[in-house]
Amino acid sequence: MTMQQDQTHRTSELSGRLAGRVALVTGGSSGIGRACAERYAEEGAHVVLADRDEARGTEAAAALRARTNVRVLFVPVDVADESSVEAMVATAWQEFGTIDTVLAAAGVASATYVSGAPSDQSVDPASRQLINLPVADWQRVLDVNLTGVMLTDRAVARRMVAAGRPGTIVNIASSAARIALPGAADYSVSKAGVVMLTQVLAAELLPYNIRVNAIGPGFIETPMTQSMRDDPEGRARMLSMTPMGRLGTPREMANAALYLACDESSYTTGHTLYPNGGMFTG
Ligand SMILES: NC(=O)c1ccc[n+]([C@@H]2O[C@H](COP(=O)([O-])OP(=O)(O)OC[C@H]3O[C@@H](n4cnc5c(N)ncnc54)[C@H](O)[C@@H]3O)[C@@H](O)[C@H]2O)c1
Repeated sequence: MTMQQDQTHRTSELSGRLAGRVALVTGGSSGIGRACAERYAEEGAHVVLADRDEARGTEAAAALRARTNVRVLFVPVDVADESSVEAMVATAWQEFGTIDTVLAAAGVASATYVSGAPSDQSVDPASRQLINLPVADWQRVLDVNLTGVMLTDRAVARRMVAAGRPGTIVNIASSAARIALPGAADYSVSKAGVVMLTQVLAAELLPYNIRVNAIGPGFIETPMTQSMRDDPEGRARMLSMTPMGRLGTPREMANAALYLACDESSYTTGHTLYPNGGMFTG
């Protein structure tokens, strides 16, 4: 059976808000990206799961394959590298014949952050203040969190436009786009950039029936917040900023992303939805 036949065959069996569509998820091996990949697959989407971490990505793809009847492909990528992103999208398009929706979740908390690795306790918090931050660290965070999202969105949008296909794009920003977090200038600025990137792209892609939206999570239970959650002071700080008095789950982020990816949000583009436990109520 060819790939095309296989997809058609399975598509006819699928149901859900994304039935038979093809979703590309970067940062899909962990945390929010992984939860989105799972949620999309539950709603009938075939998934291209892309990540820099090949071991976890391969494992996540196998786990997803085992519990759904959609096609799941893992593709290694460094989203900060243009040729790597182009190769990821070319592979996805070649294997599935299209990409209908993108979820750009790959991101880092800082230049030294490695997802899943214990945080480096020797880092002096003062070194993260902007007046002390090495330009190389600032640049690395912007390269992954902002340029990486732009490269991903652009590579897919170019193909959607050339093929005359509609689509949806969901970028993962952060509530930090709107809150000045001391010691996280690189991160906050990169995420504010993602919010504006989302608006500009939405305007540019409107004529092509491609909607572009973002979500700006609050503090979510993923490896990115692990060190803060392990530290009583860090946990208290996160909770004090969150009126609901609890952290969010990756699944709650995936539900928000699903809404923006599927037809239920058909009148929404250029918008950032902030699932953050009420952070912006005050
Ligand atoms: N956890 C939170 O509280 C929170 C809040 C707001 C926004 N976010 C954002 O959500 C997104 C997902 O983060 P998470 O919390 O799930 O953390 P995570 O560390 O669990 O997941 C991030 C994933 O991105 C991948 N990645 C990192 N750099 C990459 C690169 N250059 N190329 C390809 N893949 C790369 C990692 O391997 C990892 O799988 C990030 O953009 C993050 O900034 C997280």
